[in-house]
Amino acid sequence: MPSYAEVEAGLQMPVALAMETQRAIRRLLPDPVDDDTVLRCIELAMGAPSGGNAQPWEFVVVRDPTVKHQLARLNRQAWSVYRRLGWFRIRREARLRRIVDAVQWQADHFEEIPVVVVVCRRRPVPRLWPWAEATYYGSVFPTVQNLLLAARALGLGGTLTTLPLWSMMLARRTLGLPWNVTPCAVVPLGWPRGAHGPTSRRPVEEVVHLDRFGRRLTRATDGRS
Ligand SMILES: Cc1cc2nc3c(=O)[nH]c(=O)nc-3n(C[C@H](O)[C@H](O)[C@H](O)COP(=O)(O)O)c2cc1C
Repeated sequence: MPSYAEVEAGLQMPVALAMETQRAIRRLLPDPVDDDTVLRCIELAMGAPSGGNAQPWEFVVVRDPTVKHQLARLNRQAWSVYRRLGWFRIRREARLRRIVDAVQWQADHFEEIPVVVVVCRRRPVPRLWPWAEATYYGSVFPTVQNLLLAARALGLGGTLTTLPLWSMMLARRTLGLPWNVTPCAVVPLGWPRGAHGPTSRRPVEEVVHLDRFGRRLTRATDGRS
C-alpha cells in the first residue's frame, strides 16, 4: 500500500491533465488506502464553492465491513432494477455495454472496495422550489468533483455513484445520519486495476450557444496544445 508521502507528488499534475483523465474507475484493488490520503482528498474537495460559503457538507468515510455490506446491498438492489430498465439500449450500444460491465463488476465487488466516501449535505432537500433545490445540490456536487480530481491526482480511482441512495431512509439508517443530513453521493475509492483516462465527451462546439440557444460558437484554433 503506498503511503500518503509516496503519492503526494501526484498533486503537482497539471490541472488540465487531471481533468482530461479523471474518468469513472469502478474496478478497484482491495489494497488499503491510508487515512492521510483520504483526508487530503477531502481537504482538497472542500476548496469547492458553496452557496454563501456555507460549506454545508459532511463526509462519512466508510471502512467498516458491515456498513460497506449494507451500502453494497442498496447498490445491488438499485442496479438490478436499473439494468433491466435499460436492457434494450444496453443490448444495442457497445459503449453502454462497457459501462454496464464495469458497473456490474463494482456491484459484485463492492465489499472489497477499501474505502467509500459518502458526501452528505446538512439540511433536508427543499422540494417545492426548483431554484432552492439547484442551490441545495449546487452546494455539494462541486466538492464531489473536487474529491474525484484530488483522488485522480493522487493515483486513486473513484466514481460518483447515487445508486446506493435509492432509499434515503435505508441509506440514512445504514450511516447513522441525523434527519437533517442528506446523503448526496457515494464515492468508492481505491487503487485502480486499470489506467486513468482519457474521457470521451461530445465536442464542445456541439453544446455551446452564443447569446441565444442554437447559435453556435466555434473557435479559430483547435484549442489544445
Ligand atoms: C449524478 C450522477 C450519478 C451517477 N451515479 C452512478 C452510479 O450510481 N453508479 C455508477 O457506476 N456510476 C454513476 N455515475 C457515473 C457516470 O456513469 C459517469 O460519470 C459517466 O458514465 C461518465 O463516465 P467517464 O467519466 O468514465 O467517462 C453517476 C454520475 C453522476 C453525475
